[in-house]
Amino acid sequence: MKAARTRKRRKPRRARARPVVVRGDVLRVEPAGLFHGVLCDPPYELGFMGKGWDKSGVAFQPETWARIASWCLPGAWLLAFGGTRTFHRLACAIEDAGWEIRDTLMWVYGSGFPKSLDVSKAIDKAAGVRTSDNALLRYLATLILPPEHVASRLLVPFAGSGSEMIGAYQAGWEEVVGIELDAEYWRIARCRIAHWCGKVGVRMGRGTLPPQAGKNGLKKHPQNAPRPRV
Ligand SMILES: C[S@@+](CC[C@H](N)C(=O)[O-])C[C@H]1O[C@@H](n2cnc3c(N)ncnc32)[C@H](O)[C@@H]1O
Repeated sequence: MKAARTRKRRKPRRARARPVVVRGDVLRVEPAGLFHGVLCDPPYELGFMGKGWDKSGVAFQPETWARIASWCLPGAWLLAFGGTRTFHRLACAIEDAGWEIRDTLMWVYGSGFPKSLDVSKAIDKAAGVRTSDNALLRYLATLILPPEHVASRLLVPFAGSGSEMIGAYQAGWEEVVGIELDAEYWRIARCRIAHWCGKVGVRMGRGTLPPQAGKNGLKKHPQNAPRPRV
């Protein structure tokens, strides 16, 4: 007699929503629904390259973090990047807003703007190494990912060009919602998300992209070349 074939049950997979970037001010917008976590890179308030958004004080105001807390479910984790010169003010604002500080992760590095050659990349290239820009963000997003049987909605305020959103999507977050004030960053984030996460619900190339953008809306730059997912 032929043995009955045993079939492995496939785990039901929850449908993953497309990452969405809302354009607006964190202090004004009202995202729908509640979130299970927050991952963000708020302004360091240093006046970076004379940018107004980096000296508004929004990251140092407890009201900002209290507002974000009001959009979160109890027990939600928040991971926020801070600059070495100003992270203490950020931490105080987050704590004053009612968040409990559980730990501080250190990832301290020196940086600058390479004028002609990025030595670290040149070394990697010579050694045949291909570095993944988003590996760190993907890792951080994994740290605060809820267990598999629970839904996962992540908020990314101060989304910038979308790096945290992409890292979170790659880490397996089902729903990722970003908020970005600056029109240019918002547009770049949408293009990058479309590239890295598939369709994002926007149509590219409708007069809103920079002239140097390729057919798919991305700048023709080697960094934007598709890479295998790790
Ligand atoms: C340090 S950058 C984030 C960079 C980001 N990690 C990326 O991948 O590009 C901070 C971002 O916060 C945005 N921002 C500043 N104030 C804001 C506000 N009140 N509401 C929403 N976004 C804001 C800025 O436009 C900027 O893009």
